[in-house]
Amino acid sequence: MNLVSVKNLNVSYGTFVAVKNVSLEINSGDYLCIVGANGSGKTTLVKAILGLIKPQSGSIEKSIKAFGYLPQQTSIQRDFPASVMEVVLSGFQKKHDKQKALEQMQKLGIEELAKKSFSELSGGQQQRVLLARALCAADKILVLDEPVTGLDPLVTDELYTLIRKLNRETRIAVLMISHDIHRAVQNATHILHMNNTELFFGTAEEYQKTTLYTEMSSVETCSTHLCTHCGTNCTSSHIKFHSINEGIK
Ligand SMILES: Nc1ncnc2c1ncn2[C@@H]1O[C@H](COP(=O)(O)OP(=O)(O)O)[C@@H](O)[C@H]1O
Ligand SMILES: [Mg+2]
Repeated sequence: MNLVSVKNLNVSYGTFVAVKNVSLEINSGDYLCIVGANGSGKTTLVKAILGLIKPQSGSIEKSIKAFGYLPQQTSIQRDFPASVMEVVLSGFQKKHDKQKALEQMQKLGIEELAKKSFSELSGGQQQRVLLARALCAADKILVLDEPVTGLDPLVTDELYTLIRKLNRETRIAVLMISHDIHRAVQNATHILHMNNTELFFGTAEEYQKTTLYTEMSSVETCSTHLCTHCGTNCTSSHIKFHSINEGIK
């Protein structure tokens, strides 16, 4: 079943074109990773798909109304003054269903955290809570904007494993923005590589045969260092992203 179909999409902020001529499709059970350097329009594209930003031209067809959305993290979200259960329940658009919320929390191994304060949890636990919240909002597609930013490599692996398990076992489609090209090709079925415009869209298998991927993946992993260009926790070919996409030598 086709869930989302985007054709020749253009999205601008004033005169600045952030997303230029991007097309993609998401079907049930797909796991699409959007990769690309900082500022390459990934979040803007996702917000347009969610209906949060109006595109200038092109089309977005959706066969579903609700998306489970986990936005890019901000410190305000991390300090949110609510209990874990309250955060998870806030995912429901209409009636709060405590039983269903608990079921989603069990799936993610966080049911014992229900009464805790959200702000006291570790980064990895908070992301699981926000995933449970997103699962309460929708059961056909999860939209995750850089869900592992700031997490240590072990917790990052755990979260990737969990998301892949959800995708494989429940057939929920996943649309994930990621900086990590290695984990992207290991986990996703499809890749969109963008630099404002679309550089590649297709299966993860096809992507691995491209020179774009070869160039990106030829760099050493540096998961414990901060990226010298954007200051975030740098994983795998992150610096290569910057050097290729932004012309940094
Ligand atoms: N609200 C906004 N107003 C103006 N420009 C924006 C806004 N949001 C993002 N941009 C710009 O659009 C470009 C793409 O941003 P974004 O989609 O956030 O990229 P990414 O998620 O790939 O890092 C960047 O150059 C960014 O500065
Ligand atoms: Mg972004």
